Amino acid sequence: NDGDTMPILVIGTGYGGAVAALRLAQAGQSVVMVEKGMSWTQPGSDGKVFCNMLNPDGRSFWLRTETVQPINHFMGAPYDKAISNYTGVLDAEQFSGIRIYQGRGVGGGSLVNGGMAVTPKQENFASILPSVDAASMYSTYYPRANAGLKVNNVDQTWWQSADCYQFARVGKKTAEASGFSTTFVPNVYDFNYMKQEQAGTATRSALNAEVIYGNNYGKNSLDKTYLAAASGTGKVTIVPQHNVTAVSPANGGGFSVVMNQIDTSGNTVKTKTVTAQKVFFAAGSVGTSKLLVTQKATGKLPNLPDSVGTGWGNNGNVMVARQNQAWDATGSLQSCIPTLGIDNWADSGGPAFAEISPFPAGIETFASLYLAITKNPNRGTFSYNSGSGGVDLNWQTAWNQPSIDCAKRIFDPINTKQATIYRTDLFGEYKTWGDDFAYHPLGGCVINVSTDNYGRLTPYPGLYVIDGSLIPGLTTVNPFVTITALAERNIENIIANDFK
Ligand code: FDA
Repeated sequence: NDGDTMPILVIGTGYGGAVAALRLAQAGQSVVMVEKGMSWTQPGSDGKVFCNMLNPDGRSFWLRTETVQPINHFMGAPYDKAISNYTGVLDAEQFSGIRIYQGRGVGGGSLVNGGMAVTPKQENFASILPSVDAASMYSTYYPRANAGLKVNNVDQTWWQSADCYQFARVGKKTAEASGFSTTFVPNVYDFNYMKQEQAGTATRSALNAEVIYGNNYGKNSLDKTYLAAASGTGKVTIVPQHNVTAVSPANGGGFSVVMNQIDTSGNTVKTKTVTAQKVFFAAGSVGTSKLLVTQKATGKLPNLPDSVGTGWGNNGNVMVARQNQAWDATGSLQSCIPTLGIDNWADSGGPAFAEISPFPAGIETFASLYLAITKNPNRGTFSYNSGSGGVDLNWQTAWNQPSIDCAKRIFDPINTKQATIYRTDLFGEYKTWGDDFAYHPLGGCVINVSTDNYGRLTPYPGLYVIDGSLIPGLTTVNPFVTITALAERNIENIIANDFK
């Protein structure tokens, strides 16, 4: 409520925020979490909380009247659909050169993501986070994160014959026949539940084209894991539909935090100001970066370092699809949960880790779709735009050419060997590469650059960053396990030293 005071406020309920809230509560602290998205617990008129990818409605996108699907064309025709304006679960935030997809709601990105829970190879870790002791990450914090997230592995024997993974078997076969190695990746989706979906004994979710607009069943998103545990302590209050707009030092200590309570059309219902002794920024790479550069530029937190807003990257994301031979059907039933990656990171000429993605069109497409994570050296900077009052990101679409070049080192040889071609009808009218959007925003408030080596904003004791903005643009694999493990490491140090 307006005027409230509290010891700890966490902004955002994604991975970083969920870890902070749980561990602080277990250490005896009371925590309030504010989240701009909704609490996704109430079913709609169809009896379901979330809509699927084949029939998107207002629940799909954050405040839009038309979908902006990652695959926005099909066989030459635009594929987007009119929807009602609503605080839906997937935001497609458009900057000048890139569209950044993010989850909105209690659970953040965990509500919309593919659940791929990948721990990077330890030998690559120093290139990601050189200031962080890798040995303790791999002995303590990655295992802690994997346990907290309920990560599990697919039964490979079942996978070999399940209809819903025909597409992945074709992806594996064509990659391996072309000299590339594939690797199974863990996930937070409950594979035992999926077996029941395939067997027809449980309501379908991953097998019903559900993923990027939320899963009604099966997925252990954060609201089922860290946030459920946090709420279970009785010390954590989660307040949805509150969008934080300003943070500044309060008279008499602590911080004033201004937020707008919004309705499901995005309109402000009420503006509230609260005072918190400590504030954790966990609004995600984009959300935290936008908040921090705005506070610095508008004089609310003028002593933030100049580096705030820099070091942003897209995890080298680029998407592409191939058209398989007629004997390589990918299946009309596809699980929306990916299980395999093509690992070409050791190729020093162009490292890439390509997820073999589902393409749940509901019909046979013969297409193999991939999301490649590549080593792209380009980094963007967020800056406050005093004219618009918003925040710009200077990333240009052309900066993704290095990612395309890395990905081509996998897919050109596969096409040559298989005598197949790229699809050109999915990312535009005639466009091969999905190079103008990202699922994996990282950086903007990089650890040991804009914060100390544990996420403290040192000019303002009591302010912390604990989300993907700490990671300098790349994780070499899908990012959320690393975001979670780093948050586990940082909160342990913060609790030990700042809560004596
Ligand atoms: P995250 O974005 O999760 O949470 C931030 C929260 O803060 C959001 O809920 C947001 O609404 C809220 N917020 C923002 N601004 C606010 C404000 N001003 N006031 C209040 N609240 C605010 N990763 C992976 O490892 N494996 C995968 O399979 C996938 N797949 C995937 C698919 C799709 C479609 C997407 C969009 C993303 C993925 N990802 C992924 C990426 C992964 O989801 C992402 O890296 C993490 O969610 C980032 O975690 P954070 O804690 O940094 O922020």
